[in-house]
Amino acid sequence: MSDRTNTAPNDLSAFWMPFTANRQFKKNPRMFVAADGMYYTTGDGRQVLDGTSGLWCVNAGHNQPRIVEAIAKQAAELDYAPAFQMGHPKAFELANRLVDMAPEGMDHVFYTNSGSESVETALKIAIAYHRARGEGTRTRLIGRERGYHGVNFGGISVGGIGPNRKTFGSLLTGVDHMPHTHIPENAFTRGQPEHGAEIADELERIVALGDASNIAAVIIEPMAGSTGVLLPPKGYLERIRAITKKYGILLIFDEVITGFGRLGSAFGATHYGVTPDIMTTAKGLTNGVIPMGAVLTSSEIHDAFMTGPENMIELFHGYTYSGNPMASAAGLATLETYKQDGLFENARDLAGYWEDALHGLKGLPHVIDIRNEGLIGAVELTPIEGAPTKRAFQAFLDAYDAGILIRTTGDIIALSPPLIMNKGHIDELIGKLADVLKKLD
Ligand SMILES: Cc1ncc(COP(=O)(O)O)c(C=O)c1O
Repeated sequence: MSDRTNTAPNDLSAFWMPFTANRQFKKNPRMFVAADGMYYTTGDGRQVLDGTSGLWCVNAGHNQPRIVEAIAKQAAELDYAPAFQMGHPKAFELANRLVDMAPEGMDHVFYTNSGSESVETALKIAIAYHRARGEGTRTRLIGRERGYHGVNFGGISVGGIGPNRKTFGSLLTGVDHMPHTHIPENAFTRGQPEHGAEIADELERIVALGDASNIAAVIIEPMAGSTGVLLPPKGYLERIRAITKKYGILLIFDEVITGFGRLGSAFGATHYGVTPDIMTTAKGLTNGVIPMGAVLTSSEIHDAFMTGPENMIELFHGYTYSGNPMASAAGLATLETYKQDGLFENARDLAGYWEDALHGLKGLPHVIDIRNEGLIGAVELTPIEGAPTKRAFQAFLDAYDAGILIRTTGDIIALSPPLIMNKGHIDELIGKLADVLKKLD
């Protein structure tokens, strides 16, 4: 076991860490002090292979020269410009680039600072859109069990992860949830599962109960990442799209993880060939380097707001840092890196090798399911009786000691490495993970 304390600050108590077992961490801290390419450097000088792109965001790998240079240059040139009633060129340039790479029909971009804020923005736009066109009764929102849409009140209300909701009061009213798509028949499926398209029909039942005239939007992740990589069964997204269209309900794809190459295409929508009305993004938009999110909408939605006197604000919503110059510069450099270095293509080319390597873990102790798509994967473990999450958390700690960064959610190990990876990195990541799993109690 390595000595992890030698670079720890004297007192770790002031920082209340997010989504972290604070007491466990502070007894035995895990500190990263540098990063380059596929690897982090720990405080005690070890190299740790990044199997999670940080938190599903460093899609272009660490210390990318274009991004580093763009941020430094931007800081010296224009550090900040007011986001309201003023503009700066890079925010417009980035919006155009995003529209160019988005599916046909996604024509406008509203900036935020995170995935959570993108979700709140999308939900507010959906409700306000219906009102703008005279259907103000359409206020209800539909999410999905096991969905993750960030941590703000709208997001946890439509989200479907129990612990993220249960201690935070009454949440938004007027929210329904569709069932999740994770069914045992699909265990150990490679890529998109065969079974479960009909789960989408539950939406019909919810619409019948609430009446379409009261429903603003359905929000789902095209591929549910944070809950442990749940892939949409074949035909499922198409059915959700058809039902939402039939009833005039907006479809929001939360693409905070699926955006920017994770599945081997620019977006989940492009990968699955299903276009929503609104898309939320963040994370890979700036390679995680500077916080930024973006909500993309159709012209139909955007144009519904462009009425009334021209001196009036059309949407009473926005953030001090919406389209911030530093974030815009980082975003432009990130998109350029994806393009110039062919990173989405690399993800696509490696997907088969990744799939084979990952499914090679079948048969190891406690492994009850393996799922994959593009450069994302999950290995699900049997929970220890009476101590859910403990086994996977132990795997996470052992993996860190073994020199690989994995992420766990419940008893699921989730992997989402940077798209710059090669076959050697896959062998290292999966090889070390196999060793960890073999020794796990
Ligand atoms: C689908 C989805 N939506 C929203 C979020 C929240 O993003 P953030 O942590 O940037 O607020 C996440 C984060 O993992 C996510 O996966």
